[in-house]
Amino acid sequence: MLSVVEGTVVAGDRRGRELGFPTANVLGDESVPLPDEGVYAGYVTREHGAVYVAAISIGRRPTFYDETGLCLVEAHLLDFDGDLYGERLRVEITEHVREQRRFESVEELVDQIRSDVERVRSLTVLPRHG
Ligand SMILES: Cc1cc2nc3c(=O)[nH]c(=O)nc-3n(C[C@H](O)[C@H](O)[C@H](O)COP(=O)(O)O)c2cc1C
Repeated sequence: MLSVVEGTVVAGDRRGRELGFPTANVLGDESVPLPDEGVYAGYVTREHGAVYVAAISIGRRPTFYDETGLCLVEAHLLDFDGDLYGERLRVEITEHVREQRRFESVEELVDQIRSDVERVRSLTVLPRHG
């Protein structure tokens, strides 16, 4: 495991759902340093213990904001559809997938996230939901 971020899910710009890849924006404790910016594979554990594979983005969304933008921890939970606002999540980062970058168009970003998700599936094991 590379690192763990624990925090509460806060509202983002709600753009993720439009893009087809909704993300839980996890606000960690300020005193805990964030992992380096990048795209990662990992797991998210919900409050009641359910575990999901996640494609995790740590960065300033350079396609939409300049370098002064906020650095966010965003997790796209695979095979999950629901509302996580206000919930406390544990985000485990297990593998580095790529660097953050600025895309010339939203379509290019979405194509890249689609392939990140495939890569994440290949790097993780599916948790059993019980
Ligand atoms: C797997 C993954 C990879 C991402 N990679 C990038 C990236 O390289 N560049 C970028 O600008 N944003 C990246 N993002 C962040 C998206 O821009 C962000 O999730 C989207 O704009 C929705 O933001 P919102 O949750 O604030 O609505 C990535 C998101 C995910 C889930």
